Amino acid sequence: MEYVRNTWYVAGWSREFDRTLARATILEENVVLYRKNDGGVAALEDRCPHRLMPLSKGKLKDDCIQCGYHGMTFDHDGSCVRIPGQERIPESAFVRTYPTHERHGIVWIWMGDADKADPDLIFDLPQFTDPKWSMHHGDALHLKSNYLNVAENLCDPAHVSFVHPTTLGNAASENVPVTTERAGDVVITSRWIRDAPPIGFFQKFGGFSGNVDRWHYYYLHAPCVAAIDFGSSDAELELAEDRRDEGVRIFALHFMTPVNATYTIDRWMHLRNTAVEDETAGAQMDELFRVAFAEDKVILEAIQEEELRPRSRRPIRLAIDKGPNFYRWIVDKMIAAETQPDAETAGDASQSAAQ
Ligand code: FES
Ligand SMILES: [Fe+2]
Repeated sequence: MEYVRNTWYVAGWSREFDRTLARATILEENVVLYRKNDGGVAALEDRCPHRLMPLSKGKLKDDCIQCGYHGMTFDHDGSCVRIPGQERIPESAFVRTYPTHERHGIVWIWMGDADKADPDLIFDLPQFTDPKWSMHHGDALHLKSNYLNVAENLCDPAHVSFVHPTTLGNAASENVPVTTERAGDVVITSRWIRDAPPIGFFQKFGGFSGNVDRWHYYYLHAPCVAAIDFGSSDAELELAEDRRDEGVRIFALHFMTPVNATYTIDRWMHLRNTAVEDETAGAQMDELFRVAFAEDKVILEAIQEEELRPRSRRPIRLAIDKGPNFYRWIVDKMIAAETQPDAETAGDASQSAAQ
């Protein structure tokens, strides 16, 4: 399967890396990661160039990895520094390395051309460092599903009424239309449900008992980051769209790391402007998110299984699929720009999204 390579993917939460050799499979490539003495995270191809022994099964010595088979030793920059029993180190004795960058407790990795790895391209939000907001890292959700299906679920406000009836949705939103826009490589799907009972999440964390206005803005940054801005405020306030900070506002962030064509790791976390400094609330929110995302997992794995079975019809597309259509169009364009840089890749997303 082809992937977008020139982009930052999440290799893991910062807490996942230490002085042990950790193996991760990203875009079907095996990578060995470890923390260097200077605190940075090194990422190398997890394969010795001699007999292909995974380096993650070797030993970390200072900042170098000693292969577990014949002891060839590679520094964190991929260069070979020792071949036991031989003086000369041939030019071919090196291992590929991957740029990494750590920010806000997240380790990012660049799987494409190293000279294009600009940390300014990493997904960020001002709320990560705003003292009026709390940042809380959640889990790594393992999904037996292609990342494209996972991403489609993350630009799809329409499913929450049916998949998450006790946590993130309720019947009040079933027939509220979804608005879809595209801003560069970001697909934005949104809707407001005005003057309706609060969903379970905001009953628990907003303290709302009467009707609320509730919003959902799904910002899907192609290919693999989704920021879901959702919240509620007392319906009597008739909150304007651009004053969402005055309500109880959450960003649920999902970082998808494609492992292979049928497996994706979705690391999720949240930012919130309520119960700031209250880590118990953060942990309780995790519990609700775990319930909700387990519901998505059931759906995503079931449709993946069906997708792999023979079929004679193409899936139909509905009005709610405009966001997913935009998304697939953007990803195709990104892949084409990398694999056929001279080809004409410009086009009109509205043509494919209108189908
Ligand atoms: S396989 Fe690594 S040194 Fe031989
Ligand atoms: Fe969902």
